[in-house]
Amino acid sequence: MQLIKLSAIDSTNDFLKERSKNQVLENFTTVVTETQTKGRGQMGASWVSESGKNLIMSVLVKDVIVNPDVVFQLNVAVALSVIEVLENLQIPNLAIKWPNDILSDEKKVAGILIENRFKSDAKIESVVGIGLNVNQKDFTLLPKASSLSLLMKEEFDIDELLKAVVSRIQQNCELVTAYSGQKLWRRYLDYLFKKDVEMLFEGADKNRFHGTILGVTSEGKLEVMLQDKRIQTFGIKELQMFY
Ligand code: BTN
Repeated sequence: MQLIKLSAIDSTNDFLKERSKNQVLENFTTVVTETQTKGRGQMGASWVSESGKNLIMSVLVKDVIVNPDVVFQLNVAVALSVIEVLENLQIPNLAIKWPNDILSDEKKVAGILIENRFKSDAKIESVVGIGLNVNQKDFTLLPKASSLSLLMKEEFDIDELLKAVVSRIQQNCELVTAYSGQKLWRRYLDYLFKKDVEMLFEGADKNRFHGTILGVTSEGKLEVMLQDKRIQTFGIKELQMFY
């Protein structure tokens, strides 16, 4: 695996996207940094991380997703890769909050931002960005976040975590290529946060309603059963969960 180590950068996702446009990079080329000055999260949010304390990385993934209809398979593979690494460390009560936030004891410990580029040769190139809270202890401004060190009362080696995560991503991408991700879907649903539990949601129209998460469609939409038993699917911008 080709590894680019930086001490500071605006965003590892932006750095890798730019590099891969300008030169041919090996599959699974990885960028890691200690500090991000413009870390980006889902839906235009920013990703803030204390310098040198956490894993901030992006991995280039090529030739895994071959069809735009199934890009969500990569989200599934990556979320499970992070889960598997954390399972090995015995991090408690792991869950995937749709689409791909990683929770432990209902607190967010990792976020994933996957950006896909549909190239003119019809190939799809993805930049998989992961922010994993490792040794940071202060989350005063983020009450729903935590870190491995807060959960386990010990310090973790960030380089070891990086290697483990990339290796799992490689293995799970092989499963996507070989079995269209079918094997991973079941496991993703096993970890899906609040599956089969009634909870409160807010739709894009700001109306609040109760519903029960049943699963996720192959396009990555959340499948929710409403109180009148109708089943409705929601895209990421169409729904907020209260928990
Ligand atoms: C989220 O939960 O909103 C996704 C957060 C993704 C953060 C990571 S940190 C490394 C990579 N570079 C970025 O700018 N964002 C991702």
